[in-house]
Parts: sequence; C-alpha cells; structure tokens
Amino acid sequence: MTPKYKKARTSTMPSRRPNVRPTPKSRTHKPESRPKPRRRATPRPEARHVRHDDAVTRNAKITSGNAGTPKNQWVQTTWLRHGDAKECLTRVPAKTAQTCVTSPAFWQLRDYGVPGQIGMEPTPEEYVNKLADVFDEVHRVLRDDGTLWLNLGDTYCGGGGFSPDSPTNRYRGRQSKASKKGRRPVPPGYQRKDLVGIPWMVAFELRRRGWILRCDVVWDKPDAWGNWAPDRPTRSHEYLFLFSKSKKYYYHAEAVKEAAVRGTKHRRSVWSIPKSRYRGNHTATFPEELVRRCILASTKPNQIVLDPFMGSGTTGVVARRLGRFFTGFDINPAYVNEASCRIIT
Ligand SMILES: C[S@@+](CC[C@H](N)C(=O)[O-])C[C@H]1O[C@@H](n2cnc3c(N)ncnc32)[C@H](O)[C@@H]1O
Repeated sequence: MTPKYKKARTSTMPSRRPNVRPTPKSRTHKPESRPKPRRRATPRPEARHVRHDDAVTRNAKITSGNAGTPKNQWVQTTWLRHGDAKECLTRVPAKTAQTCVTSPAFWQLRDYGVPGQIGMEPTPEEYVNKLADVFDEVHRVLRDDGTLWLNLGDTYCGGGGFSPDSPTNRYRGRQSKASKKGRRPVPPGYQRKDLVGIPWMVAFELRRRGWILRCDVVWDKPDAWGNWAPDRPTRSHEYLFLFSKSKKYYYHAEAVKEAAVRGTKHRRSVWSIPKSRYRGNHTATFPEELVRRCILASTKPNQIVLDPFMGSGTTGVVARRLGRFFTGFDINPAYVNEASCRIIT
C-alpha cells in the first residue's frame, strides 16, 4: 500500500529518484551506460570557420543628411574588408560616414607581422606621414558635420623590444626579459629614453592638413601595469583626440553627460576607464565604454561609424549594439575574421 504522505507515481509525473539509500546493487550501476550530457559549445571567435575577406550585411539607403551629403545613396550596413586602410578607404563614397572611431597601431610597439602594416616605420616622422595620409581619406569619407576620434599612445626611444603582447615577441608576457634583448633603434634627432610625443605629432600634422583639433581626451587607465621604470612615473594614460571636419559639427552633449554630486554635468576631458576585458586573439583592443561614449556623442542611429584599423572589431560591436551602421578594415585577414565573428555572426 502507498503511504498517505507519498503520492503514487503516475505516468504523467516527472520521474524522480526514489528517496532511499542506494542498495549494493544500485551502487554497481554504471553511469557510463547513460548517454553523456552534451557540452554546450561556446567557441571563441577564432574557433568558428567564417571567412569574411569582404563581409557585408544587407544594404540600406541613406535618406537624410546635411548639406553636401549624397542622399538616396545605397550603403552597406556592415562592411568589413581585409586590406590596407588607405586603399580600402578609396572605395568608400565621399561624405557618407558620420564618425570615425579608431586606434591605429602605435609606433614601434607591436609588430603585427603583416607586410604593409603601419607602426613599424624606422622614424616617427615616417609613421606620422603614413597615418596622416590615411586620415586624408577619412576626411573625404566623412560627412561635413562628421568627426574623428583618434586613440594614440606614445613610445620611448630605444625602449626594450616590442610590447609584451606583440605576436612576434618571443618573450610574450615577460617585459623584463624582452627588454634585455633587442632595443628599439633610436631615430636621428632623438636620444635614448626620450618620450617621442607621437600622439601630439600626429595631432599637429592632421591639423596642418585641414582637420580642426577640438579636444584631447586623456584616457586614464586605472588598471595599467606596463611601462614600469624605476626613474619615472608609470605612464597610465593614452590620448583620444576629437577632430572635426567643419567648425559646426554634430555633437550630442546630452547623450554623454557624466554623474555629478547633484545630477549630471557636461562630460569632462579625463576619462577613467579600465582596459579592455576582451579575451580573443587580438591583444591590443580598446574598451567598449570608450567607444560607446564617442559613438553616442557623434552619431544618430542608422548613421555610419568607420574604423579603418578595426582589429578585433570593438568599434563595430558597439556601433551595431547602438543601432549604427559600421564600415571597418584591417590589414590582417585573421583579425577581419575575428571581427566578423564578433560583429556579424
Ligand atoms: C591597435 S589595433 C586596433 C584594435 C581595435 N581598436 C580593437 O579594439 O580591436 C591596430 C590594428 O591596425 C591594423 N593595421 C596595421 N596597419 C594597417 C594598415 N596599413 N591598414 C589597415 N590596418 C592596419 C593592425 O592589424 C591592428 O589590428
């Protein structure tokens, strides 16, 4: 007889294990005989086989614009392409993108091991010129009320080897050993230990070529650990320059207000944002929060955000999340693949 407190099992009830101590027989029951639960696949981006040398999602029509914007022009909502930034930009129609949020390879810090890469020029001047040539094209591609957010870090002359995370660094992750091995050559006109001032050199060159330099945002990295030297403070910031194409340009101050003691206040120029938490193949990504502020301040939904040095595609990820279109290029096909996994799939 079934005891009162125990309901009789019916076929519609979920089967439960009987609340009894295992008998010797049940102890010998082999769990292997049951089908093993399937592990959920959570592939890292590089594990998926998606090749997107020229990845595109559906087309969309630009239907609004300020003076000089070609209306009724068809653009790709997301366009990722493998190739040299300057070369790829020549294929983008003029005055179509609203903002460019980008972080080019810094001078002599990371060897990405790809022919044609920017960043490994022997002198800062060559690097500045090459970068400025790319941004001439960005200038053409931006709408008249468009902006450029340019993230740049600096380099010490004759410093030790490449970044600990450089793909070509034999001592990846061990800065001190890398430093003992090959030092960066000191270019003529500089001394060993000089901080080059690369971000400002680029900023001045872009200004000379017609950009309006509107703001130098200091990106303060509270969790910075690199660049340790006993005879100077640890550098824990990078620059983020805001350039505009015209004197009047789109800037949505309300969208990027910051918290104040009472309510909110206008966004300040020092942004304290921890480093990127992205753990893919690319090791020089910028944080999504940094990109989010730039895109919110400089675009409306359905406008185009550009990144000619997209790397793992952080700008594209944030742009798509905020309902913006995205166009991105990178010279390394592996990164284009990685970016398309993050952005499109
Ligand atoms: C600092 S990383 C960009 C990282 C990106 N912001 C992210 O969050 O993933 C710079 C990128 O520029 C790319 N690069 C270097 N030279 C280039 C060139 N000539 N044309 C296009 N991309 C280039 C490198 O392959 C690298 O992925």
